[in-house]
Amino acid sequence: MNKPNFNEARKRTKEKILVLKDEYKVPAEMKEYGKNKKYFLKTYGCQMNEHDSEVISAILEDMSYSKTDNYEDADLIILNTCAIRENAHNKTFGMLGRIKHLKQTKKELMVGLAGCMSQEESVVEEILSKFRWMDFVFGTHNIHKLPEIMLESINKNKLEVDVWSNEGNIFENLPVKRDSKYKAWVNIMYGCDKFCTYCIVPYTRGKQRSRMPEDILNEVKELVNNGYKEVTLLGQNVNAYGKDFEVQNYKMENLLEDVAKTGIERVRFITSHPWDFTDEMIDVIAKYDNVMPYIHLPVQAGSSRILKLMNRRYTKESYIELFNKIKEKVPNASITTDIIVGFPGETEEDFNETLDLVSKCKYDSAYTFIYSPREGTPASKMKDDVTLEEKEQRLYKLNDMINKYSKEANDRLLDKVVPVLIEGVSQKDENLLCGYTDTMKLVNVKAPKEDIGKIINVKITDVKTWSLDGIKDE
Ligand code: 5AD
Ligand code: SF4
Repeated sequence: MNKPNFNEARKRTKEKILVLKDEYKVPAEMKEYGKNKKYFLKTYGCQMNEHDSEVISAILEDMSYSKTDNYEDADLIILNTCAIRENAHNKTFGMLGRIKHLKQTKKELMVGLAGCMSQEESVVEEILSKFRWMDFVFGTHNIHKLPEIMLESINKNKLEVDVWSNEGNIFENLPVKRDSKYKAWVNIMYGCDKFCTYCIVPYTRGKQRSRMPEDILNEVKELVNNGYKEVTLLGQNVNAYGKDFEVQNYKMENLLEDVAKTGIERVRFITSHPWDFTDEMIDVIAKYDNVMPYIHLPVQAGSSRILKLMNRRYTKESYIELFNKIKEKVPNASITTDIIVGFPGETEEDFNETLDLVSKCKYDSAYTFIYSPREGTPASKMKDDVTLEEKEQRLYKLNDMINKYSKEANDRLLDKVVPVLIEGVSQKDENLLCGYTDTMKLVNVKAPKEDIGKIINVKITDVKTWSLDGIKDE
């Protein structure tokens, strides 16, 4: 048994990062294990998890499993979990409660836990004490070991826990079953070394490791050859890409430019940290038409005092300066953000700074959250005397403002013609298609089904707060 250990996870060693290309294998006993069996994989949380689930799916299919969308039909259930806020935890434990009932009537059902919650000491302790009926737990660093972990659990007929806290390596050549035929996630780096004081990610995802440029570029070229139209370069803090390379001087701006040059029709990247956002990066975004004018730039708070307590390494003023610089050089850029309200000790005055910043930046949209203490992080030990009620009031007030600016940004698109990558049939109306603009706005479009998978021009005919309506512009 390998249990997670936050003291180990917190360490940042100088050990060399190895790129391992042949670590993934399916033991002979597991190759047909999933024949005539179904798996149900539920993903919580961010795009990193979505993409990890694409790898987990491919590994399960390498073991001959086939997919089901109904957990009650499954022979194997895996929850790929998120640890960012308490409610993500609660959802997972709620789901485990339902699965427990199922397991009581279906003894042969296998149940596994994956993702960021598996990396938490307290979660694994809880599983070991209250969820012994589960079959296996693996973490974010050893997804490639899934077939061996399942085999171990089957052979011993008991709960197998294998979670690594000491990451350090990069595993290449893992299989992937992509959800879309048109747009693809491409990891460019793993982990995060920023240690924002509220954030669990540096503990659950380990130290920052950048993938080799040639591995990333080969993946993108293969996607282009396979007809993909869009790639999103993924990392917790993509602007720090390449900072961990010992010899080569190759940074995010170099990578972004080289990816743009592959000829892929659309390049996106998430998430950017304002600290590492260089002028060269902005120049590359401005220069290449296929680098989308969409930047997610989490600010987290408007008060410089709170930003300091959060260990964000920028002030309100320096953030606004960066924001304006981007808008100046990329005038059509849509900029979105993340904001936390109710960080420990946030006063009314601090909160007003957040409102003031939002009124200056007028974001295209924003994800807003009430601060949620995460065990093991420095902020969880800070004194917090703001009531939940007060925090909720702040969130409502902030959301009203955010929604107003989202609607205004959308209003500016009325009657305009914008490029949209059509992804499929609209969830809202089966007679419509849907897709995203270059600026990452969801559009429900009247267009023929043959346009699915194409980037078409769409005239915007109606505007809502969270989406647009449009018609194909011939
Ligand atoms: N509480 C609330 N929100 C958080 N986030 C990260 N950690 C926490 C936390 N402890 C938010 C940040 C981050 C987004 C992914 O989640 O805004 O950018
Ligand atoms: Fe968390 Fe900060 Fe790293 Fe983002 S940059 S993953 S908020 S520690």
